[in-house]
Amino acid sequence: MNLRLAFAVISSACWSAFQHGYNTGVLNAPQAIISDWLQKEVLTGTNVTISAMDDPKVTTAMSIAVAIYCVGGMIGGIITGVVADRFGRKGGLLINNVLVFIAVGLQSTAKLANSAEMLILGRLLIGVNSGLNAGLAPLYLAEISPVSLRGSIGTVYQLVITMTILLSQVLGLSSALGTSERWPWLLAVSAAPALIQAATLPLCVESPKYLLLNKGQELHAQRALNWLRGDVSVRGEMEEMHQEAEKNKISKKVTLRELFGNRQLRQPLLISMVIMIAQQLSGINAVIFYSTTIFYKVQLTTAQAQYATLGMGAMNVVMTVISLLLVEVAGRKTLLLSGFAGMFVCTVGLCVANIYAQISWVSYLCIALVILFVVMFAVGPGSIPWFLVTELFNQSARPAATSVAVTVNWTANFIVGLSFLPFSSALGPNVFIIFAVLQPLFIMFIFFKVPETKNKTVEEITAMFRQQM
Ligand code: GLC
Repeated sequence: MNLRLAFAVISSACWSAFQHGYNTGVLNAPQAIISDWLQKEVLTGTNVTISAMDDPKVTTAMSIAVAIYCVGGMIGGIITGVVADRFGRKGGLLINNVLVFIAVGLQSTAKLANSAEMLILGRLLIGVNSGLNAGLAPLYLAEISPVSLRGSIGTVYQLVITMTILLSQVLGLSSALGTSERWPWLLAVSAAPALIQAATLPLCVESPKYLLLNKGQELHAQRALNWLRGDVSVRGEMEEMHQEAEKNKISKKVTLRELFGNRQLRQPLLISMVIMIAQQLSGINAVIFYSTTIFYKVQLTTAQAQYATLGMGAMNVVMTVISLLLVEVAGRKTLLLSGFAGMFVCTVGLCVANIYAQISWVSYLCIALVILFVVMFAVGPGSIPWFLVTELFNQSARPAATSVAVTVNWTANFIVGLSFLPFSSALGPNVFIIFAVLQPLFIMFIFFKVPETKNKTVEEITAMFRQQM
């Protein structure tokens, strides 16, 4: 690690993951206030004698505003491969900021214009931006990192997501920006990281692998690598890239259709998709989105429930830092397995605790279990999927595979977000049984199918899959 590499990691991943995390959490705390505005100022003709949160017209508009973010994420995922190849990883990240500025413009003036449409369109665009970030940033990180740091550097993306989810929850409190006057500012905050990225990322180099393997620019690639590695000799890494370039001449760029058709790529593609589905269907966002409601149901006051949510967010950050330190020692597979196994134990605990919900101390046990659930997620299932996909494919297939994986992730995210509330009103707290059934399946899949990629070059990893064939 050296200062320039750190600068490139911060300029690329931090400000991109900011959009992804911040906008995941931002509508959570001020939901009631924005609903109120929708009811009183926008959706005229609604019955203002009922509370905005119970008004079907308002809740529909609000649900659309929340969920359309994931639809944007899916679109961003789909176009990741094309953008990454056409504009480069760094170039793609930079252009992506245009979407932030348009989205912020729409969202922060929606109140002034009394327009729900502007809020919803803004959420869609910031979703597309986040989907693209979720593909482009891990690609860039994987391609600029030395092998021995690839996992730790890859984890930075998730670390910033957890930090900015927490930031959005803090800023959304009524003592900060979560008021009926200030909420447009809460949505305007996204412009700051975009500005910082637009100012700092141009100072960093494009991915050397992209320069050599996609553009054939030998000299530029060598310069970029020298910039990133400082005093360390780059001869070995250049040699490796040349070997990959030789192979690339034979196997040209993989399109989406070829990705699904190619038997050699079937196994890593399956792993990438299942690991993304597992991350989302573990139930994490049911907890991230609805924790305040969950805590409220186990008899905490609203204020207590909000603080418990902040505590949970903070634990998510702390544990992700620990996983960043562990990932190069313990390996990806061990952390994934321990994380999912821990989540399974917590989920079963929650289901059992629910039977004894009348006992007063059980509600505290439930809170502890929910927080522990998030901690176990942060051990590995939170961070590893984002960069594992970039490790399983060589240069020619990496962008297309990342595109597919990111799209699958946002689709699964969308499904959980949309179905959790209806399911939980039908099943009550037993809704967690659904996750308890799915988690063991994911654990088995990881145990039998996912290879350990720690300290292996991409060439070694892809060779492993070829041998299996
Ligand atoms: C991962 C998930 C995201 C979730 C977050 C919570 O990044 O992809 O959906 O909100 O973790 O930490």
